[in-house]
Parts: sequence; C-alpha cells; structure tokens
Amino acid sequence: MQIVHERPTDAALIETLLNDAFGPGRSAKTVYKLREGVAHDPALAFVALEDGALRGSIRYWPILIGAGQTPAVLLGPLAVDPAHKGRGFGKALMRHSLAHAASLGHRIVVLVGDPEYYNPFGFTREKALDLALPGPVEERRFLALELVSGALDGVTGMIQPSHPQTRRLVRRRAA
Ligand SMILES: CC(C)(COP(=O)(O)OP(=O)(O)OC[C@H]1O[C@@H](n2cnc3c(N)ncnc32)[C@H](O)[C@@H]1OP(=O)(O)O)[C@@H](O)C(=O)NCCC(=O)NCCS
Repeated sequence: MQIVHERPTDAALIETLLNDAFGPGRSAKTVYKLREGVAHDPALAFVALEDGALRGSIRYWPILIGAGQTPAVLLGPLAVDPAHKGRGFGKALMRHSLAHAASLGHRIVVLVGDPEYYNPFGFTREKALDLALPGPVEERRFLALELVSGALDGVTGMIQPSHPQTRRLVRRRAA
C-alpha cells in the first residue's frame, strides 16, 4: 500500500468512489455548505494505492470558526473502494493526512462522521460542543480534534467556509 498526494488524474476516479460511498445526493449534506465555491486543500489531499490502483481518497477543506475566524480544516470526505473495505486503507489515509496536517502547522480539525470510527484518532464530541454548523447534523457525529493541545480553548461559534478572499482578510488583520 502506498499513500501519495492526490494527482490531477485521480479526480474522475475519486468522483466515482465518492458517489459509490455516499450516493449522488451527498452534496445536499450540511458539510457541503462549507465546501461550495471553495477548493479542497491540495496539500492535504491523499490517495491510497495498491499496485498503482486507487483504493481510497481523503480530502480536507479550509474553514473558519466563529467571530474570531479561527482557521481550521474540515476532514472529509474519506472513502475507500467498497471492494477493499476493512483492509486498513482508511486508517492509513487518516494517520498519514493528520500527521501531515500537524506538520504543516494546522491546529484544529473538525468532521461529521461515525464517532466509533474517528474516536481512536482522537476526535471527540466534547471538543466540538462550543462549535456550530450551518445546518442540521446528527449531534453525536459532529467531532473535533486539537492537533495542538489547547487550540480550541476559547474558540466558539459558527463554522464558516473559508473563501480565498476571506482568508486574505484574516491574514491581513493578523499581520
Ligand atoms: C469508513 C471507511 C472510510 C473505512 O475505511 P476502511 O479502509 O474500510 O477501514 P479500515 O480498514 O481502515 O478500518 C477498519 C476498521 O474500521 C471499522 N469501521 C469501518 N467503518 C466504520 C464505521 N462507519 N463506524 C465504525 N467503525 C467502522 C471496521 O469495523 C474495522 O474495525 P477493526 O479494525 O476493529 O476490525 C470506509 O468503510 C468507507 O469508505 N465507507 C463509506 C464512506 C464513509 O462512511 N466514510 C466515512 C464517513 S463516516
């Protein structure tokens, strides 16, 4: 198994994989409100390969939290070829991408997903209790992880999409 950065030639296969895993109605979900009109972060997009064949994909989107517009990343979608589930591709993509996110200086990761799958990577419901999403989600599946201990201290409020122009403004204000 190999984990490599997503390549432009992977896009079509990933689209098929996501449709198979989540169904064509996936873009109606609340998390897609945070992805609309914003590109995923190419530095955090990885694919799992086996003998060159695509087995899984993970992507992350940049987001901002609350009035303070604290930068964070939204994990997902994560999907593994249904014919190759349970063989460790998902865990490998999780471990690799989270380590890479930490090495790039990201501090906070949020996601909507099954806690039974994501708890072992450190994601908890507790860390997301002061955060809100722009639409309905099943509460127990809204989770967060601090890549830097204490990164969520005092961070509260609505999660917003991180449009490039907003990111520029946030950076200018911080400078
Ligand atoms: C969820 C998913 C990414 C896991 O990838 P995978 O490569 O099959 O999983 P891995 O081989 O790394 O891990 C397998 C373990 O995860 C567990 N697992 C898989 N899906 C799970 C889920 N939804 N909830 C809880 N545990 C889950 C398996 O029971 C197995 O446990 P074990 O190690 O104790 O035997 C994959 O099954 C998938 O694409 N599912 C459809 C899309 C999806 O649900 N994406 C995630 C959003 S929650």
